Amino acid sequence: MSGHSLNRRRFLQAAGASAISLSLLGRINEIQAHTDEQANHAGSLDFHSLAGQYSLAPEVSYLNHGSIGTIPNSIHEAHVAYLRLCETDPWLYMWGGAWDAGREQVRSQAAEMLQCKADQVALTHNVTETFNLLAQGLPLGAGDEVLFSTLNHPGASVCWFHQAERRGFTVRQFDFPLADVTSLSIDDVVALHAREITDKTRVLVIPHIDNTVGLRHPLKQLADMAHAKGIEYVLVDGAQTLGMLPLQTADTGVDAYAASPHKWVQAPKGLGAAYINSKLFPRLKPMWVTWGQQRWAGTVRAYEDYGTRNLPELLALGDALAFQTRLGAQRKLERYQALWRYTMQQVDATPGLVWRSSRNWSTSGSLYAVGLKQGKAGEAAKALFDDHGIVVRPFDAPELNSLRLSPNTYTSEAEIDRFCELAAGFS
Ligand SMILES: Cc1ncc(COP(=O)(O)O)c(C=O)c1O
Repeated sequence: MSGHSLNRRRFLQAAGASAISLSLLGRINEIQAHTDEQANHAGSLDFHSLAGQYSLAPEVSYLNHGSIGTIPNSIHEAHVAYLRLCETDPWLYMWGGAWDAGREQVRSQAAEMLQCKADQVALTHNVTETFNLLAQGLPLGAGDEVLFSTLNHPGASVCWFHQAERRGFTVRQFDFPLADVTSLSIDDVVALHAREITDKTRVLVIPHIDNTVGLRHPLKQLADMAHAKGIEYVLVDGAQTLGMLPLQTADTGVDAYAASPHKWVQAPKGLGAAYINSKLFPRLKPMWVTWGQQRWAGTVRAYEDYGTRNLPELLALGDALAFQTRLGAQRKLERYQALWRYTMQQVDATPGLVWRSSRNWSTSGSLYAVGLKQGKAGEAAKALFDDHGIVVRPFDAPELNSLRLSPNTYTSEAEIDRFCELAAGFS
């Protein structure tokens, strides 16, 4: 039995002893036992058969897990079961402390996937929220500079511009050389950032995997370089990585790492998890404050406690994390690498299409851009969906003019073939 299942058992013991509470609390263990059983089954399937565990419509070829993930049926059922359970005694579950241990269990699971300590994980709502927290709460002012490249997503960018106007620090966004992405080495990526850093730069923001070409940024090398140059805060947008790649967050030396488990962890929508190095706690002000602030002062909980929240959904995050763990991080990684390689080969062999992402797996993931030599990406994406049910994300900028694919483990090679054949027709 895995450590995760043992944790779940301890949850009931920790929860109290009265007959009524044991009876009500016992139901959460029933839900989790059922979900664990289904996750174990899913983990025993080959990836092709895994598709049957999801609700995707048969007429849809979903190649857009980077925009939003889809939830396994068993996680959806667990979520509904928690919602129902909550209504059997709303006070007990929302405010009576009955799910306190459950929430902490989810925090530990998120920490296990992030590879950091649980007391450095805030359970937020998404990456955008975490970056708003960081932009609003870090001690920055006149003379300070925040730096990031044009690969940085608006969810991790806009908040800095907004705060800069109010507090007098500056934000500098440098042009990332998109045309070179196919051949960049890890050292090149580090050098591209290093040359932009000035003695004013106090914050460096990095997308672990960006959402346009899917370049996997070398976190440890970037964090080491940036800290050596005097940068205090290396902050990472991990929206596209938690659940996709095995992580070693704490070991990379970054100061904060924001994730959105509704993408690759396949959790219900509107759930976030963020690693925040505890050395930031004394300096990072909470974004929202409520009565919990006194209770949680100096702990990571101070960044997430702002009144009533959707606890049934939060508990379902635990089930989603357990499901992904059962699929096996290494096994998933190998599948993603195989699909990436296969897609690149098919694109290379298809006239009219051009590979716009890295050709080196160490700087890649399961998100890549397929350029159209002619035609317009936006129009092609619309037609691919309207006429063939293929869901991809277009990027119209002239240097990209591409369709972004972000397949999951159960995406088949036949879907990639079909995409290439049809996409080429628009080029
Ligand atoms: C790289 C990246 N960062 C941030 C976000 C924003 O995520 P959220 O809406 O969950 O905050 C996205 C969403 O697609 C993304 O791809």
